[in-house]
Amino acid sequence: MGLRAAMGCSSLPSSRALWLTTAVVAALAAAAGAQAQLSLSPGFYDATCPGLQPIVRRVVARAVRMEPRMGASLLRLFFHDCFVNLGGPRWTVPLGRRDARNTSAGAANANLPPPDASLPTLLSMFGAKGLDARDLTALSGAHTVGRARCVVFRSHIYNDTATNATFAAELRGTVCPYTGGDANLAPLKPEAPDTFDNGYFRDLITRRVLLRSDQALYDGGNGTTDALVRAYAANGTAFAADFAAAMVRMGNLGPPAGSAAAAAEVRLNCRRVN
Ligand code: HEM
Repeated sequence: MGLRAAMGCSSLPSSRALWLTTAVVAALAAAAGAQAQLSLSPGFYDATCPGLQPIVRRVVARAVRMEPRMGASLLRLFFHDCFVNLGGPRWTVPLGRRDARNTSAGAANANLPPPDASLPTLLSMFGAKGLDARDLTALSGAHTVGRARCVVFRSHIYNDTATNATFAAELRGTVCPYTGGDANLAPLKPEAPDTFDNGYFRDLITRRVLLRSDQALYDGGNGTTDALVRAYAANGTAFAADFAAAMVRMGNLGPPAGSAAAAAEVRLNCRRVN
């Protein structure tokens, strides 16, 4: 089952289905019973764990019901995993993504864009992974769900002029004082923060987003990302299609080839290396 197929899941509301799917894709990588192999395939778990997809779907749906932010956390985890454990062969289909056997704070810092990233930085960091402006803009739409801490958006709401003044003042007065309150949370999208839709792009146009790296996609000019933001704001279907395609491309970023590839594996227990 690919991402698009799962997006068509009829038993869940579409917003839930989309990020549940992401969760499924991420969770599959940690599921039991599969042999490590280099190519991904929709039937990766057919022989070793035929009931895997309904099981993962059920477990993740329950987790999201209990804590809606869980979907956002899994979505973010997928991004971080794909961007940090990079390079190597391109995989054509989404299931069977392997886990690295070690972690590296240095690699995470070097690969993940910071929240104050400018557009050129974002384009170059995504470009380094073979992802273009369309992928960047669509994938940033993941910020239609979830929360961020005051410490990562303070600078944007205190120092940047490219913010909606009322929006920034409200955040300053409620959740994000100039000092302290670093861990206080605000929704990345003020309205319906647990609903996966294209509202994030409308918020970019009205300059009501938390991160400087978000607003960097839209300055009201004629750039490529400005045009994409306008297109996605007007057309949720186009956003969903591009987001799904970009997620597949991002999921195909693999562990490096060669000796390091041997160090990647599908974990038997997601909490520890095999
Ligand atoms: C374009 C560059 C990106 C930057 C600079 C960025 C940065 C951030 C930051 C700073 C937060 C808040 C973290 C915190 O306060 O603890 C966040 C949250 C989040 N990010 Fe991103 N992000 C980027 C792209 C992405 C992508 C590509 C995805 C997924 C496809 C993603 C998914 C999320 C989600 C879902 C959350 C909310 C998590 C939660 O509520 O637990 N982000 N991001």
